[in-house]
Amino acid sequence: MCGIVGYTGPKQAQTILLDGLARLEYRGYDSAGIVTLAGNQLKLRKKAGRITELDALVTRQPATGTCGISHTRWATHGGATDVNAHPHVGGDGEVAVVHNGVIENYTVLKRQLQERGFVFRSQTDTEVIAHLIASYLQDDLVEAVQKAAAHLTGTYGLAVISPRFPGTIVGARLGSPLVVGLGDGACYLASDASALAGHTQRVVYLNDHQLCVLTPERWQVLNGDRHDIDAEIETLHWSPDDADKGDFEHFMLKEIYEQPEVLERAMAGRLDQSEATAHFGGLNLSPRELREVNRIVMTACGTSYHAGILGEYLFEQFARIPVEVEYASEFRYRNPPLDQNTVVLGITQSGETADTLAALRESKRKGQRTLALCNVVGSTIARESDGGVYLHAGPEIGVASTKAFTAQVTVLTLLALYLGRMRHISYAAGKRIIAELQGMPDIIRETLKCHDQVKEVAHKYQHVSNMLYLGRQYLYPMALEGALKLKEISYIHAEGYPAAEMKHGPIALVDEDTPSVFLAPHGAVYDKVMSNLEEIKARGGPVIAVACEDDEEIAARADDIIYVPSVPDYLQPLVVAVPLQLLAYHIALLRGCDIDKPRNLAKSVTVE
Ligand code: G6P
Repeated sequence: MCGIVGYTGPKQAQTILLDGLARLEYRGYDSAGIVTLAGNQLKLRKKAGRITELDALVTRQPATGTCGISHTRWATHGGATDVNAHPHVGGDGEVAVVHNGVIENYTVLKRQLQERGFVFRSQTDTEVIAHLIASYLQDDLVEAVQKAAAHLTGTYGLAVISPRFPGTIVGARLGSPLVVGLGDGACYLASDASALAGHTQRVVYLNDHQLCVLTPERWQVLNGDRHDIDAEIETLHWSPDDADKGDFEHFMLKEIYEQPEVLERAMAGRLDQSEATAHFGGLNLSPRELREVNRIVMTACGTSYHAGILGEYLFEQFARIPVEVEYASEFRYRNPPLDQNTVVLGITQSGETADTLAALRESKRKGQRTLALCNVVGSTIARESDGGVYLHAGPEIGVASTKAFTAQVTVLTLLALYLGRMRHISYAAGKRIIAELQGMPDIIRETLKCHDQVKEVAHKYQHVSNMLYLGRQYLYPMALEGALKLKEISYIHAEGYPAAEMKHGPIALVDEDTPSVFLAPHGAVYDKVMSNLEEIKARGGPVIAVACEDDEEIAARADDIIYVPSVPDYLQPLVVAVPLQLLAYHIALLRGCDIDKPRNLAKSVTVE
């Protein structure tokens, strides 16, 4: 949510900043801006709309200078207009600021500043920060930032420059990520390390309450008392293909097709044939400690929350451990009783989602052990949890999550196996599960062959206004996820429901214009799902079935069928994910939607 990029060094900043913003655009994309220092002048350019609009503006009016900061916005306070776009300038041009996060007490601060004669140009909370810093600015920019920050309630990742301090960028973090990039005679500042790809691999992550001071030759990380921190330099590993769509029209489609390899990577080195179990390097819990865990609370948002519900089913089935899954935004403000043997597991692709982070912090504060399933290496949640497992799905750029989800489900299955083998799963059953898991990458390759069938279905139903997604047991969370995918990128209203529960309400929606997607591969509840399907048919609702290739009866029952390979029940979510993702993709494509950057959404939601 919102991206920040800063640069100070020997080169013209504009190109580097726009290149970094383009890499971060998936985080927020309703407006963008840049400010550079040319001598003692600020060159400010900002524009509502996509970064291409800003590109066009700076082509006409370049922002010259070798030090600058920039921002791509996902609006919180104030609409997506040129004026509300960041950077914001404080006082009479003494400072320029870009900001991620939300300042909760900005109305009070704004009134106080207005009474002192500061003139506000925008409706944003950020402008308050710019004026506050300007109000404190004398001969020390760091001091002014610190004094201003002391008044702020809320969250911020800040980058600040001032014409009085040429070549210097000051950054500050509380609740919104910031990373410093170390180049040759140059320093970078970004909200996300992916902005630095191609420029440097050496980075330093800031923690909350820390500041950084960057000049071309020198970088410093300071704590709240202004003491130098001996911050650790970490090395990033980029693959040149990471930020490239290759032959695919969209990142989402590329990421759907990457899933066989993603599953391979999620399992690589984690399956232990000799013990018929899985193992993990970073849980930081001994087998004895894990054996004592008597309850797991999984907390997450969006698609990751759906992976959590699958985790609940898997853990209970395999390991007989009670699991509770809770939206992080709810969990953080509840006060549930948690005993000392309860582990709180955060599930998050980005590792930066504000609510998930807050839920884990609150749990940690209470003394709970926290674990995380993260994709982004070095993300805040990955660093702050007591232990965890990386997904190794590679960068996910499409805003609607696909490959990170299947990686989450895969890792949760491995964890369920690991915990299950400590408890109830026999050696022989463990061996069978491992063999079945190892077959999944090829099965997903096979599943991708349903693409043409899905295209036909999408074509037929592209104009509908409502859709139901129905499934039972392991496929109930998939019904939720299928509906979410469709909503996110095609803007069609969709609901996911347990197939039998739809009788208690949603069945009232069923008519000839409201198709239902039935997740109906062969399995323990197949016959029950068929009864539910008949209930929809009896009310004239069109039925799209996702069914097994060897299902000979389904053709007589469903209007349209997408055939997928047959796998054991607990692996069906991985198989079913593919047609659901492709269906949402093709309907959105036919409706002319912006698939990788759907309206109003952002990839990484760093405000609560
Ligand atoms: C946003 C994204 C979703 C994602 C959710 C949780 O809403 O658009 O795709 O599932 O955040 O993100 P996380 O990074 O915590 O998995």
